[in-house]
Amino acid sequence: MLPKVLATWPFDLDLFAPIAGRCELIGNPEPRVWSEQELRERLSDVAGVICVLNTRITRSVLEASPKLRMVANVAVGYDNLDVTALRERGILASNTPDVLTDATADLTMSLILAVTRRIVEADRFTREGQFQGMRFDLLLGTELSGKTLGIIGYGRIGRAVAARAASFGMRIIYSRKSAAIGSRPADVLTASAQPTTPTETMPEQVPLEELLARSDIVSLHLPLNESTKHLLDVRRLALMRPSAYLINTSRGAIIDETALASALREGRLAGAGLDVYEFEPRIHPDLPSLSNVVLLPHLGSATREARRRMASLAIQNMADYLSGERPRNLLRELS
Ligand code: GLV
Repeated sequence: MLPKVLATWPFDLDLFAPIAGRCELIGNPEPRVWSEQELRERLSDVAGVICVLNTRITRSVLEASPKLRMVANVAVGYDNLDVTALRERGILASNTPDVLTDATADLTMSLILAVTRRIVEADRFTREGQFQGMRFDLLLGTELSGKTLGIIGYGRIGRAVAARAASFGMRIIYSRKSAAIGSRPADVLTASAQPTTPTETMPEQVPLEELLARSDIVSLHLPLNESTKHLLDVRRLALMRPSAYLINTSRGAIIDETALASALREGRLAGAGLDVYEFEPRIHPDLPSLSNVVLLPHLGSATREARRRMASLAIQNMADYLSGERPRNLLRELS
């Protein structure tokens, strides 16, 4: 009898070719996130699950899934998986690195530009019929050239953001909170991030506190785990300049969102561009009313190309498992 594999989202059917005929595939016909109880029922006799980020594979779900052997997460982050409980049960799990790096770095740049050039505010102003003709002092922003971008978490996405920002003439400093979080070494930037004129400088690694104090824009590119939760707390947010902007396309809970809302409200920060929230999908009630904040609904990897590549890579990881091979993107905690 073929092992059962459940997909928790209706991914494009053609992507399932690598596992066709090698498992009994159970699809989710509707684009809806299952509750924990629904998951417990649906996973009760499956060997593999291909799941999206808002499928939470908790200890309770695992207790109801005695046959589960492999979880292929369709995301690079995997804070939706209880990795400790997976390890205890010897269940394998994989993620989808690399294939969403460009999409996420592009969105990060979109947020940086949106907050510094007040794009959303300006769009609203124009739609509201307030545009009376060009004015010399209308909606002035801040330019990027010559400014310092502080990147916290210098893995694949952090480096891709550095490459883009360097081409805008930004100086890059970065910090690896990540001895603790295990980013892979990254001393070499991609070619486009190399200095192109003698006045440009190479990215410089600095301690986190120094990065916060020196940066005009701080951008987060870390996974969420015990060591990164509330990394930006009241104390560290207070180290940032009142003229600085904070961008988060990683995970909301890396920032203490209440502390961030107060800092923004009280003018202790110039603005923020947020794609992720501490208690997603809930958003701190103060944030939507602040005009210096741009809020997105977790769109980091939301391009058609990236989403297809992510689903395809997760399915290939499941195919590896079904062939008795080590999944190519096995989580490092489980390898
Ligand atoms: C998206 O947030 C991801 O981790 O892939």
